[in-house]
Amino acid sequence: MARWFPVGHILLLAAAIAMASHPAARGSSCSVEGPRMDCGWVGIDGPTCVSRGCCWRPVHGADGEDEAGEGVDGASGVGDVPWCFHDTSHASAYNASSCKETGSGVQATLVLASPALPSLGPDISPLKLSVSYETNTRLHVKLTDPTEARWEVPESLLPRPAPSKASYGTLYDFNYTKSPFGFTVSRKENGEVLFNTTGHSLFFKDQYVALTSSIPESAALYGLGETTRPTGLRLRPGTMTTMWNRDIPVANANINLYGTHPFLLDIREGGLAHGVFFLNCNGMDVLYTESMIEFRAVGGVLDFYFFLGPSPSDVIQQYQDVIGRPMMPPLWSLGFHQCRYGYKNVEELESVVDGYASANIPLEVMWNDIDYMDGYRDFTLDKLNYALPKMRSYLQRLHDSNQRWVPIIDPGIMVDPGYPAYDAGIQKDIFLKDASGERYAGKVWPPIVHFPDWFHPDVQEYWTAQLRQFHDQLAAFDGIWADMNEASNFCSANRRSGKPLDLGRHGMVGTDACSSDFSSNSSLEHPPYRINNANGAPLSDRSIPVSMLHHDGVTEYDAHNIYGFSESVVTVKAVAEITEGRPFVLSRSTFPGAGKYVAHWSGDNMADWNNLRWSIVSILNANLFGIPMTGADICGFFGTTTEELCARWISLGAFTPFTRAHSDHVPQELYLWPKTADAARKALGMRMRLTPYLYSAFKAVHSAGGTVASPLWMAFPEDSTTYDIDRQFLLGPGLLVSPVLEQGADRVDAYFPNGTWYDLWNNASKIQGPGTHSLEAPVGDIPVHVLGGTIIPTQAQGPTTAHVRETPLSLIVALAPEGDLSGSLAAQGSVYMDAGDTLKVDGPDSFTVEFEARTAHGRGVLTTTAVPPSNAERSIPQLGGLDVLGFECPQVDARDGPGLPHGAATIEVSVNVNGAAHPQAAILRDVARGSLHVSGLATSIERGVKVEWRCDSSYPTT
Ligand SMILES: *[C@@H]1O[C@H](CO)[C@@H](O)[C@H](O)[C@H]1NC(C)=O
Ligand SMILES: *[C@@H]1O[C@H](CO)[C@@H](O)[C@H](O)[C@H]1NC(C)=O
Ligand SMILES: *[C@@H]1O[C@H](CO)[C@@H](O)[C@H](O)[C@H]1NC(C)=O
Ligand SMILES: *[C@@H]1O[C@H](CO)[C@@H](O)[C@H](O)[C@H]1NC(C)=O
Repeated sequence: MARWFPVGHILLLAAAIAMASHPAARGSSCSVEGPRMDCGWVGIDGPTCVSRGCCWRPVHGADGEDEAGEGVDGASGVGDVPWCFHDTSHASAYNASSCKETGSGVQATLVLASPALPSLGPDISPLKLSVSYETNTRLHVKLTDPTEARWEVPESLLPRPAPSKASYGTLYDFNYTKSPFGFTVSRKENGEVLFNTTGHSLFFKDQYVALTSSIPESAALYGLGETTRPTGLRLRPGTMTTMWNRDIPVANANINLYGTHPFLLDIREGGLAHGVFFLNCNGMDVLYTESMIEFRAVGGVLDFYFFLGPSPSDVIQQYQDVIGRPMMPPLWSLGFHQCRYGYKNVEELESVVDGYASANIPLEVMWNDIDYMDGYRDFTLDKLNYALPKMRSYLQRLHDSNQRWVPIIDPGIMVDPGYPAYDAGIQKDIFLKDASGERYAGKVWPPIVHFPDWFHPDVQEYWTAQLRQFHDQLAAFDGIWADMNEASNFCSANRRSGKPLDLGRHGMVGTDACSSDFSSNSSLEHPPYRINNANGAPLSDRSIPVSMLHHDGVTEYDAHNIYGFSESVVTVKAVAEITEGRPFVLSRSTFPGAGKYVAHWSGDNMADWNNLRWSIVSILNANLFGIPMTGADICGFFGTTTEELCARWISLGAFTPFTRAHSDHVPQELYLWPKTADAARKALGMRMRLTPYLYSAFKAVHSAGGTVASPLWMAFPEDSTTYDIDRQFLLGPGLLVSPVLEQGADRVDAYFPNGTWYDLWNNASKIQGPGTHSLEAPVGDIPVHVLGGTIIPTQAQGPTTAHVRETPLSLIVALAPEGDLSGSLAAQGSVYMDAGDTLKVDGPDSFTVEFEARTAHGRGVLTTTAVPPSNAERSIPQLGGLDVLGFECPQVDARDGPGLPHGAATIEVSVNVNGAAHPQAAILRDVARGSLHVSGLATSIERGVKVEWRCDSSYPTT
């Protein structure tokens, strides 16, 4: 949670004022044709631009007229092209020499041929170019300084994959020109140029590295974040994405939020996709115009990976080969989570647990925001409201009913001699310091804090010990919520004061005591190129000053964007050790690779309809960034929700990978309003039934990479209609979720890609895509459809995943019309199960069962196969039943029936299990809906089963 810091209206080009009379600062070289290199940032005004010696052309449209009012409405804040750009004669270029080409790549030396922009610092020359054909689908292009090592994302945090040696079958060509140096990456198959730096300048200065590529107008681009983009999931030309982790509520549009993800997914004609990853953690701006994309960072090296797909899901898998595949969440984390900032005491928590139970709404995990702490000290309990004995019995009660508890932990440790976490930190000397060796003191919830240095060799031991002491002696948590880890700091960069005061335990004074002189290292505090942090804020604003030092002298300037990521890695390791199980950590700040360790929620949103809509984009983006275990604060965090909004939100939230309601002091538990409670029972009831499906979807991406919540184009890249859809999404491989997102609406227009789609709720009414359909969905309902061709494993619903886990499996067998799948294969799916919380995935307690259905002419067979074959250490639930959707008996005519009328309803259905009629099987056939419901099977599937069904007109009429 955060304090509410609304960002004022982006000052934007509002100040476009009378600058049209200065069309060019330097005459004819301010050409508006061709690539323009941005000199300012979105939000710069004319006078500031001109004072930098740059060209100011607030043009919008071909006529060159000043149309400053257009394209800048509201917070969108983007124009089509940079309005403030560098004199075009100032292009920096290098020549390539001593080029060495081998079968596995290219090595060359780049020598500066034309210096440019001295105001951003001297150019570094020579540069070393290393191009490596790492795999047939992965190309690695890296530019470094051969003489002096520069900062790079530490290997310890993000180990780079070893090249697995590409063969001659690479999907790409890497071509380059020597003078000036430029390169292209193209797709061999069709010759399409995917990335082309030729003709664009290349910068490599100490505090400014930049690379630009042409991008065709027709490309569909996704990625880059973390930001809230009201324009939707697809990137719009004119988008400047700034990446500098910041504690700013997700309710703010078009501004850098908590995490950094310089990853792009680009879909070209015909649905062929590729990815681009700029591996750099310095502050950066990425500018996308209608003709180019420019990556600019204020440090580090130019390190790019290209992933050739060709499908979007291939791109994601190839990306995750580099950043790491998503962690496997514990089963319990798939249940429903409830949180509120402002739970006053243990009694209130207990009443919330009771409220859910008596309303019959699933509740698996209770959370606590900072309220439980003693004066905002991590690892403590408030002595009065969260007194130890009460807390113990509360946690005992939760655990006895298979429920869990996740508390918040912030990185800042209160400066308070006598407080064990503070004393131990001092003793181990693990806090960040300034250049003079003084510990840095900032302010978060406690009036004065030190920040742990996650690079310190002793920090793991320190953090594990603190968490362990809290877990073992005070409150046995099940997971940890790592908040405020950008890191947030309420000390503002432009405020300074003296040294931290000597504060006694109860004698807190000087709440604005923020130590250190922010102007001391001006090249860090004031780099020559200013990224557009929060539309013009200094880098240190609301965070740890960039001149602070980590172990080994790494500056916060370089490591800021990985502060939260490195905390995540340390925390996950600690939680795994302490709980002796599969760790669950939710982190606000993330970086590429974080998904291998943590879950993520979109952050502090607002209880309004816009935020409900935007939440889908946040969730899909997190999935593209390799963090599938993600969700938004259901019903909205800030502000006051309504019965209708909260009902719509839980209907949607029940189908997001992570499902947690959270609010800022306002009680908005789901049982508080009748319509919300109804919506919750219905949607969460279905979610609980779907836990085996969801868990298996997570297992699939944990093992092979991918997304759990996906944009429609992930599965239907050839259908360009899907490129702009972000009000619907796919959950796992076979569910399409189409929520109502408008106040007062009771219908939703939903797009169905090519395929047969069955209504999940009534197991029936089917829609044939492609096409848009208007679906009825009054409050309490959410349209969800099953894609024909998939088999969805479900179990019976229950309040927690532990209850669900004890029930038999039931399969939704959604048949594809014959011919959709190769041969007679009509549907397939699988289920993965294990103990749910063991550290090891694929351990001895685990199993996978694969399902396959084949159909022909009114006959069908479902086969289950356990892989690997049965093993004594595990127990596979029995198969209880199945719903066959799209079940049709061939119409009876004189040829194959005994003279019955055409389409006779007297056809009998029989079900055999392993070749024999099953004595307890109850069969229900719904002719109108084309479904067959079989229950009562109670059949073990350890060894594989065959369930057959057939339409049989020779049975006597009953
Ligand atoms: C770069 O290449 C161009 C064209 O070949 C040449 O004119 C120029 O002298 C070269 N510059 C350097 C520094 O090698
Ligand atoms: C790259 O070079 C290869 C081999 O010389 C050539 O076949 C291909 O057409 C070139 N591609 C581009 C985009 O220049
Ligand atoms: C790359 O871009 C340059 C400049 O825009 C252009 O001249 C060149 O033809 C492009 N290369 C390819 C292979 O498309
Ligand atoms: C839909 O998919 C089927 C099977 O994959 C294919 O044969 C058909 O051409 C597709 N139809 C459209 C409209 O794309």
